[in-house]
Amino acid sequence: MCGIFAYYGEKKNAPHLVIEGLKNLEYRGYDSWGIAYKNGGDIIVHKEVGKIGDINAKDLALGESSVAMAHSRWATHGGVTKANAHPHFSEHNEIVLIHNGIFENYQEIKKDLIKKGHKFLSQTDTEVLAHLIEQHSRKHSFEESVKMAVKEIEGRYAIVVMKKDEDKVIAARKGSPLIIGVGKEHGEYFIASDIPAFLAQTNKVIYLDDNQICVIGNKKINFYDNATNEEIKKRIIEIDWDVESAEKGEFAHFMIKEIMEQKDTLNRAINQDPKNIELVAKAIEEAESTYFVGCGTAGKVAMVGAYLFAKISKKQIHFVFGSEFQNYKDFINKKTLLVCISQSGETADTLEAMEIAKEKGAKIASIVNVENSSIARHSDIVIPIKAGPEKAVASTKATTSQLAILTLLAYACDGGVEIGKQLLIRTASQINDMLNPRYADHIKKIATKIKDIESMYIIGRGANFPIALEAAIKLQEVSYIHAEGFAGGELKHGPIALISKNTPVIALVANDDCRKEILSNAQEVKARGGYIIGVAPTNEEVFDFWIRVPDVGATSPIVNIIPVQILAYQLAVLRQNDPDKPRNLAKSVTVK
Ligand code: AGP
Ligand code: GLU
Repeated sequence: MCGIFAYYGEKKNAPHLVIEGLKNLEYRGYDSWGIAYKNGGDIIVHKEVGKIGDINAKDLALGESSVAMAHSRWATHGGVTKANAHPHFSEHNEIVLIHNGIFENYQEIKKDLIKKGHKFLSQTDTEVLAHLIEQHSRKHSFEESVKMAVKEIEGRYAIVVMKKDEDKVIAARKGSPLIIGVGKEHGEYFIASDIPAFLAQTNKVIYLDDNQICVIGNKKINFYDNATNEEIKKRIIEIDWDVESAEKGEFAHFMIKEIMEQKDTLNRAINQDPKNIELVAKAIEEAESTYFVGCGTAGKVAMVGAYLFAKISKKQIHFVFGSEFQNYKDFINKKTLLVCISQSGETADTLEAMEIAKEKGAKIASIVNVENSSIARHSDIVIPIKAGPEKAVASTKATTSQLAILTLLAYACDGGVEIGKQLLIRTASQINDMLNPRYADHIKKIATKIKDIESMYIIGRGANFPIALEAAIKLQEVSYIHAEGFAGGELKHGPIALISKNTPVIALVANDDCRKEILSNAQEVKARGGYIIGVAPTNEEVFDFWIRVPDVGATSPIVNIIPVQILAYQLAVLRQNDPDKPRNLAKSVTVK
């Protein structure tokens, strides 16, 4: 589910080029990497365990080539070893392949191939496909063999394949992103799992869809529908992401850069085409039931959405994590609306929920950052959040933009979209006071104090309860401190037993009808020795440490998460973790 980047063209330095491109996909999280390139009549493979960031391609003594592929692996089948890293060869090094995703039926196919005499060098599911293609290629053309093999495999995948004696690169996808970049020179193409890999080379892209195959060779590119075998025409799209927005610039890490961008990103989310908001608001009004669906942070945003609708538009919305959606399938029908919330638009669990809902005839809307992603392309209505590339694994700017869109929608369903818009514009201007070094320095004081603690808790009520859950995710992801979020009122039903002297507890407070109650909950914690970090518009007696946030009413979830994002980032840096590429995590979770 990590990085794929391949090059086909005239440039002779393809091996270097794909290594550099792969570095731009590092943010997705991975544990080993490798490249393959054509050289004379051979295919040369170089793989390594660990990070590619510090590798200077020049030190690797790579040969010249104008066709190459590179992969960063996030291990699913087989440990993190050089043998399991991609690319994988088939028998006699005929076929070479890189793969993102999982082949679910690889074991049956592997058994069959072993009977036919194939020998395997890795524990991966991926290697099996290389052998299967090679087996077919004994009787069929390379192109035919790839088409036949991908029909046999089950699961989600994006693959790029080359054959020793063929001037062709073939790519296929099902459920895992794969994008073609159309180069500036005639017949030059890039294949990548995400646009930043080739953004420095081209902004002209073609999105491969599920069950489509792309064959590049003879300076030409052709696309086929793998179900019908028919050739298909694909559209070239010019994307408006610029290289700069995908670079760190003066910042030490993407995470802090993206946190600091939030004033602009919020404004972009708010000031977009109002038609998108109107359409989704109308769909919510017309639907018999609406489900907000997302995973991880986007799942918490979905939950905030349900609170916003209950409060602002007095409407009941169900929220479900993508991975849990199948449990609700009996309630889904033609009158249901599913609103998928996703930064990447490629999350497998959210996509699966979408597929289930589609099968039942439900209408699909989505709130996504990556326009033209799988979720966006398969939705009836799309609201793009316009946050620009988000590269740190921990979502920050996409989160607040999604929250802004849900706030707009809640107001729109109450007939007051303009009121919502004005409130959000005010909020965006007020968070300016938070996104500056002085504010960050204040938070650093508390980060320094708690950096060695083992556990911390976050409490909130109302729409700030899911924000407490999201705050916990942020802290877990990058600081690796055990952090848990609770509804303030739930503490006394169990979790308060965890509080002892100086346990840090962040209380998320808003100037709303939950204020008094959450402050009482903070008192309950303090009475048991807890150390209260208050995120609130006013300083309260119960706080041991106060982080001021603007008093913004219904948009408090947006302002309350920002100080925790900053705190999580600072804790990561103080604890010498890499905030952009936390251990064990990937930016886009395209496996179930
Ligand atoms: C966010 O900080 C996390 N890395 C993760 O929970 C993420 O929100 C989740 O995997 C969903 O991703 P998506 O928004 O791209 O669908
Ligand atoms: N399932 C494959 C493996 O474990 C691919 C993993 C990935 O997507 O990086 O090697």
